[in-house]
Amino acid sequence: MEKNSLTIDEVRTLRQDLWWVEPLLVVVVLGSFVVYTTWAALQNAYYYAAPYLSPFYSPCLSTNCAHVSLPLIGSWWNLSPAILILWIPAGFRATCYYYRKAYYRSFFGAPPACAVRDIARNYTGETRFPFVLQNMHRYFFWLASLVVVFLWWDAILAFRFPDGFGVGIGTLVLLVNAFLLSLYSFSCHSCRHMCGGHLDTFHDSPAKYRIWEAVSRLNEHHMLYAWISLIWVALTDLYVRLLSMGVISDVRLI
Ligand code: FES
Repeated sequence: MEKNSLTIDEVRTLRQDLWWVEPLLVVVVLGSFVVYTTWAALQNAYYYAAPYLSPFYSPCLSTNCAHVSLPLIGSWWNLSPAILILWIPAGFRATCYYYRKAYYRSFFGAPPACAVRDIARNYTGETRFPFVLQNMHRYFFWLASLVVVFLWWDAILAFRFPDGFGVGIGTLVLLVNAFLLSLYSFSCHSCRHMCGGHLDTFHDSPAKYRIWEAVSRLNEHHMLYAWISLIWVALTDLYVRLLSMGVISDVRLI
């Protein structure tokens, strides 16, 4: 019998809308971010323009940093200090529940969108290596929270200019960066679980209920915070980098 039309099992999707735009945007934005961050981290230069420290290098842990935050590693470390710290935010984002959805769809095509057939045939879920490692997200949350504390400390130090107290555009850039990364970190699904989501009842834990409720409200916008904090942290590094290279000058507001 001659076959003149595809069955529903043979077509990739019956969707007629622009479903491919979202995964394409994720590939472009996330891919550009990864390329830029890797390049900036390996530069080992132009990451400090007093009083501003790039968030990609914070906290600066080796004693030969341009601006040491915490001297845990001796001067024997002669690679970029960003390598010592960047694995924490990278691991936090890579194992994030939202980003998992975004990059499984966009980079692996598993599936590219709702009601669209998988491109990758070999995706077997998160029960086996290497994707079973995604379960480490809750531990990355704790480590990333520590990094956020240092980013706030950097934002406070950004008021301390060589000639005393002041506020520059860079001060505001670092403050916004710490704020956005706090929103992203504390709207995390693991944070929500730890703040009370693990309880069967809130009856005996009214304080936990209030915290869980506040985190749940943040959690509703986790995707938004994920993207704006990602873009802003890259722009913050770029701002400090261009200042340090002498390409631009900081504007002193106070
Ligand atoms: S779920 Fe996205 S940071 Fe935890």
